[in-house]
Amino acid sequence: MSEQPPAHIARLIRRLELTGTERILELGAAPGAAVAGIGPLLTGDGHITALDRSAVGVRRIRERNQALVDAGRVTVVQQDLTTLAPEPPGRFDLIFASNVNVFWTQPRKANVDALAALLRPGGRLRLFYGYGPGDGTDGVGGGRDTGSLVAAALRNCDALTAVIMDGASAPLEISAVRR
Ligand SMILES: C[S@@+](CC[C@H](N)C(=O)[O-])C[C@H]1O[C@@H](n2cnc3c(N)ncnc32)[C@H](O)[C@@H]1O
Repeated sequence: MSEQPPAHIARLIRRLELTGTERILELGAAPGAAVAGIGPLLTGDGHITALDRSAVGVRRIRERNQALVDAGRVTVVQQDLTTLAPEPPGRFDLIFASNVNVFWTQPRKANVDALAALLRPGGRLRLFYGYGPGDGTDGVGGGRDTGSLVAAALRNCDALTAVIMDGASAPLEISAVRR
């Protein structure tokens, strides 16, 4: 029986509005709950790469998703975002992350540029913060300050456009599109 994802992950998956054929990168994918929810929705060439720099995190992603890895739907990568090969460029249709702080920690600009280079033109970047209503993360994970910081980092990247922050409902969501 497949496990139910946590509420913030279940909501995030709905918000991604997947067709199922996307080439997806999840940044900071440990412990693999979103991958476990998305994997079964994939069809055709649909594929998800789960990236995390933590060895323990990557082990948890693999443990949770071994069947999807074996089926070729999921690739698990233990690496820091900035060390991912830029070639081939534009290899993802969608990049998303939940509660990952690389948009306000250093090297902030290199982090955003690396993500933008991995997206195809028109590809979507979707970032989520917080765990849901009443999670107590205002100003840290789900608050307006986080949204402003992240939106400013994305607007500072020439390769990204249409930066939108939706702070009206928890979790906070910031999106952008690759030019
Ligand atoms: C707070 S956890 C988020 C867990 C999960 N996405 C969620 O929302 O429940 C942040 C994750 O991002 C990973 N991470 C942070 N910076 C990273 C980077 N530069 N490259 C790859 N992974 C990174 C961390 O190792 C950690 O597993």
